[in-house]
This record gives sequence, C-alpha cells and structure tokens, in this order.
Amino acid sequence: MAAGMNASALCFVLLVVMAAGGASAQLSTGFYSSSCPGALGAVASVVQSAVAKEPRMGASILRLFFHDCFVQGCDGSLLLDDTASFQGEKTAMPNNGSVRGFEVIDAIKVAVENICPGVVSCADVLAIAARDSVVALGGPNWAVKVGRRDSTTASFSGANNNIPPPTSGLANLTSLFAAQGLSQKDMVALSE
Ligand code: HEM
Ligand SMILES: *[C@@H]1O[C@H](CO)[C@@H](O)[C@H](O)[C@H]1NC(C)=O
Ligand SMILES: *[C@@H]1O[C@H](CO)[C@@H](O)[C@H](O)[C@H]1NC(C)=O
Repeated sequence: MAAGMNASALCFVLLVVMAAGGASAQLSTGFYSSSCPGALGAVASVVQSAVAKEPRMGASILRLFFHDCFVQGCDGSLLLDDTASFQGEKTAMPNNGSVRGFEVIDAIKVAVENICPGVVSCADVLAIAARDSVVALGGPNWAVKVGRRDSTTASFSGANNNIPPPTSGLANLTSLFAAQGLSQKDMVALSE
C-alpha cells in the first residue's frame, strides 16, 4: 500500500477525485470566501506546525481523509466517537490502533472556531488539512472544493467493509475502489 505514497503526485490523483466527489454538485473552492475568509490560512498554519514538529503527521492526516471518504463519503464520520446509538469507525479493523492525528484535526477545528464560530465543517477541515499535509511534505498543491456537511452518524461496519484491508487481492481492491466511484486507473496510480 501506501508506504512511499505520502505526498506523492500519484496520491494527488485520487485525492482530487475524492475531494471533488462526495456531496458533489454543491461544493466550490469559494464556499467560505465571505463567511470565513481566514479558514484556509488557519488550517494551513496548524498543519504546518504539526508537520514541522513531526513529518509523519502529514502522512497520518492524509490517511485520515482517505479512511473518512471510504465510509459514507467525505463527511467527517471517522472523527466521531462511539455514542449510545452507534459504534463509530475509530475502532474498526482498518483504523483501530493505526489511525492517528485526531488531536491535530481537533486543534485545527479550535483555531477555525475561534475565528468563525459554527461555520466550517469538520469534513472540510479534514479535506483541507489533507491537502495542506501533502503540500507541507513537499507534494503537489490543488484547490480543495469545500461546502461538505458533517455526518451526525458513523459506521463501524462500513469502515470494516469499505476500507481495503492489506490482505486484499486485485479483485477485492478493484471492487472496493469502484464502490467509491474510483476506477482501476485511480487505484493503480495510488498504489505506486
Ligand atoms: C489501496 C489500498 C490500501 C491499503 C490496503 C492500505 C493499507 C495501509 C496499511 C496496512 C497501512 C499501515 C497502517 C499502520 O500504521 O499500521 C497504511 C498506511 C498509510 N496509508 Fe494506506 N492503504 C491503502 C490505500 C491508501 C491510500 C489511497 C492512501 C492515500 C490517499 C493511503 C495513505 C496511507 C498513509 C499516508 C499511510 C501512513 C500513515 C501513518 O504513518 O500514519 N493508503 N495503509
Ligand atoms: C481496539 O484496540 C484495542 C487495543 O488494542 C482493543 O482493546 C479493542 O478491543 C479493539 N477494539 C475493537 C473493536 O476491536
Ligand atoms: C473479496 O474476495 C473474496 C474471495 O476471495 C470474496 O468472497 C469477497 O466477496 C470479496 N469481497 C469484495 C468486497 O470484493
């Protein structure tokens, strides 16, 4: 998988696809330009410090975005803790003990709430932070379309069933990516 993949231009291909997908038609790069003009700068600044402190954090944040997007779309569901009504995604097999960086996402959310309370979604914070992580590690830049709504629910089983396990063969990988609207070409680019 993605050892070698952090910040690579190939990962970029998929990230653009993932970033453009999801709630689709309503997303735009200027979604917060009047409601929270400081949002992008606030995200970038926290990501830059976190990656400067520990370069691996950039990779970890990128992976958070991937694992969020493969379950219910890029809706921030991965960020939700378990509640009485659902078991969240954090302890699902692909995530338990290996996802990391939630404290950075939390710090970004705090920074963004400080300047524009109640405006910027957590799902967008994650999408922007993934891009900024790649940039901070020397990878390519791209314009992130924003305007995602946050999920109010998460899916433990969705995380177990939709995120490819490292034991997957080609057929399984192809079908798990296809389920997200990603072609085999997208997948191959990513698997470099
Ligand atoms: C194609 C199927 C994929 C499989 C089977 C897979 C599997 C894995 C596994 C087993 C790990 C190690 C987790 C651990 O620390 O124990 C990992 C790490 C990672 N994956 Fe994937 N992955 C896949 C696709 C992707 C994609 C599409 C991306 C990004 C767009 C990605 C980004 C990463 C990154 C950045 C790490 C390192 C995270 C860190 O060090 O915190 N992976 N992956
Ligand atoms: C997640 O990992 C912890 C620590 O290894 C373990 O105690 C727990 O049972 C795991 N949760 C699930 C749902 O597998
Ligand atoms: C994965 O492969 C196994 C057999 O190797 C098959 O039973 C299963 O349905 C496949 N899952 C997906 C999601 O393609």
